[in-house]
Formats: sequence, structure tokens, C-alpha cells
Amino acid sequence: MPVRSLFPTLVYTARLQGAGTAAFNHELLRETAQIRDHDAPGRKWSAKRYPGGYTSYGSLCHLQKMSQTFATLEKKLRRHVNAYVRQLEFDMEGRTLAMTDCWVNVMSRQVVHGLHLHPLATISGTYYVKTPRGCAGLKLEDPRLDRFMAAPPRRANSRDEHQPWVTIPAVAGNVVLFESWLRHEVPPNRVAGERVSISFNYNWF
Ligand code: NI
Repeated sequence: MPVRSLFPTLVYTARLQGAGTAAFNHELLRETAQIRDHDAPGRKWSAKRYPGGYTSYGSLCHLQKMSQTFATLEKKLRRHVNAYVRQLEFDMEGRTLAMTDCWVNVMSRQVVHGLHLHPLATISGTYYVKTPRGCAGLKLEDPRLDRFMAAPPRRANSRDEHQPWVTIPAVAGNVVLFESWLRHEVPPNRVAGERVSISFNYNWF
């Protein structure tokens, strides 16, 4: 075909590890419950900005520095971030990417996380700890959407590359990485049972 695909948006998804996922997630879940119990400022922050849910984003957002378990998560994420950076072909000469933020999110039924991006970061992502069957995924938006004012719509069954939005299913044990400028949202969680995830940012130094 004399057609090439240019200006790609790369999104990385993989299992965090080969074995031991259930035990690791069990520990993360136990600590998440403790963090929520102790984090009164975070519960207050969430009541205002994350109705029905809990996030430590506004209060405890350096969990990798506070907890051995979250520090272990950071360690396990390293090879994934490195693999993603290789695919992105970042010039890392004399540079490092370090985890700067790490926080937990608990979404009950109907909790929503509106469209946003992650300012002041390079690579962002999420690790899924608990994902009740049918819970909301991660919906990514074509970053060129605002240039498409008069562009014709794509066929409903077109390839993912041609879709204006693509939803990555939330699967416990999976990690998703994307560039921090990519707008995304979590649509309303339609199922009973809490959907628990850990989000993080890496920054370029
Ligand atoms: Ni986000």
C-alpha cells in the first residue's frame, strides 16, 4: 500500500508480572483500605471533586515513598516504562525518568472521572488492583480531535487507529502506560463493587 501511518499515539498495556499477581493485589488492596481510613483530608478532597469515590490524589500522592508495597510496585513498573520509552524513541541521553506521583483511586458504582490530562508529567499510567466484571475501562481520546471540525466521520467498524475514542478495558493485574498529554477519562462505573486502581506519573529530569 502506498499509504503510511504517521504521528502515532502509542499506548502500552501488559501484565505487570508473570506470577504472584493475586497476592500482590491483595496486599495493595489491604493498604488502600488503610490509607482511605486514615486519610481524612483525602476523603474530604474526594467528596468535593470525586463524588462517591475516594482518591488520594489531593492528599497522599507520593505513595511510592510512603509504603514498601507501593515502592515494590514502582520497582515492578520499571521494566514496563523502559520498554515503552524504547518504543517512543525518547532520547534519554543524560536524562532519567522518575516516578514523581503515585496515588490510589477507588470507584464505586456511578463514580466517574471526567476528561483530563496529567500536567507537568511525561509518562502516566495506571495499574489495576480490583476490577469487578463489567467495570468502566480507560477511555482515550484522539489528541487531534479538535482539528477535525469538518472531517467526515469514520465508519463505526473502522480500525482502532481511526476511532476518535478507544477504551482500554480495566483488568486487574494489567498496567497501562500513555504519554501524559493524552486526554482520557473513566466513564461512569456501572457495576456494584469497587474498582480499585493505582495511578502514577513519571517525569523527565
Ligand atoms: Ni488520569
